[in-house]
Amino acid sequence: MLFDSISPAPADAILGLTEAFKNDSNPNKINLGVGVYMNDEGVTPILSSVKKAEARLLEEELSKGYLPISGSKGYAAGIQDLLLGNDHALVTSGRIQSAHTPGGTGGLRVGGEFLKKFKPEATLWVSNPTWANHQGIFAAAGFPIQEYPYYDAASMGLDFDGMMEALSKVPSGDCVLLHVCCHNPTGVDPSSEQWSQIADLAEKAGWFPFFDFAYQGFGESVEADREPLKLFAERGLEFVVAASFSKNFGLYSERTGSFSLVAGTPEAAEAAFSHVKTTIRVMYSNPPRHGGSLVEVVLSDADLRREWLGELEEMRNRIHDLRTQLVEGLHQRGVDRDFSFIARQKGMFSFSGLTKDQVNVLRDAYSIYVVGSGRINVAGIRSANLDPLCDAVAAVLR
Ligand code: LMR
Repeated sequence: MLFDSISPAPADAILGLTEAFKNDSNPNKINLGVGVYMNDEGVTPILSSVKKAEARLLEEELSKGYLPISGSKGYAAGIQDLLLGNDHALVTSGRIQSAHTPGGTGGLRVGGEFLKKFKPEATLWVSNPTWANHQGIFAAAGFPIQEYPYYDAASMGLDFDGMMEALSKVPSGDCVLLHVCCHNPTGVDPSSEQWSQIADLAEKAGWFPFFDFAYQGFGESVEADREPLKLFAERGLEFVVAASFSKNFGLYSERTGSFSLVAGTPEAAEAAFSHVKTTIRVMYSNPPRHGGSLVEVVLSDADLRREWLGELEEMRNRIHDLRTQLVEGLHQRGVDRDFSFIARQKGMFSFSGLTKDQVNVLRDAYSIYVVGSGRINVAGIRSANLDPLCDAVAAVLR
């Protein structure tokens, strides 16, 4: 029998933790594993702007007919407005083309499959560390994967020199995956000046930038977070972007993301994009409508858009406050180690510096679930569990 001979696959490094958390009977368990925003009641809320858009859709939606292969034109326009702004030259000239994909993961995989066709010999370079799923996605698309240095454990910051040195040696034609903001898992981003240098290097070295943009609006703001893309655009470079509305619209289960490509001319963009469509057609035919329609309604209505931006700001500020409270909580418990870096990191995650053993103790003795790399989802902390969390972390550090 075929299936009798198959041994189980290892649990997913992130989503596997959610399963383990669900099976834990401790009433005081805390899930800081998967990157999902929770409010102070421990709920991942549906944004009010999204709820209103949903009510409108319920009234106005007339058909469940298929979307075009790359999704609706309105959704693509919304994506480009967020990525660059409606008035950006790449948008007005038609040098950017965008497809609706099932989540950011779908955008990455579509991008991987598409690029593999035209860059069969290329290696894909990822930061060390990177999101636990990146390697799997691009390996599945057939890319050999290599790492470039990124995180400096000593300073709890960016190893910019190491990164630049490695990227200066990446062969022209290889692909380099860059996190636009709120680097997952470290929360450490290059400064604007460093981004300019990275863009200069891309131009000089000739490697192909592949951006992952899953946390737009969780760093500084929708506009500030997209600045790296504009720096690459200013240099006239070709690049691609996979983006996600899971976090900034709270549309996790609606699988609402995108893949965009930027070419040197509108004609080149259109020709290349026709291959994105053939790639999508054989993977999932066309995208799921609901999440994309919600984004489209919110972004095209001035009131809903304003409300959404306010809700996004509220999520961003709450995470920032939690970071400060976590640092203070650990300090108050006499933890010697300087954890002030947690307050400087951006986005949902903090790369805590906890070892694998300490992470295991947190799980086994305290039912606190943290990714094996020591990554904490700060957005999963609540006032009600901040004290027990600080107590437990202080205890494992002793
Ligand atoms: C995460 O890093 O926790 C999120 O991007 C969710 C996921 O799919 O892993």
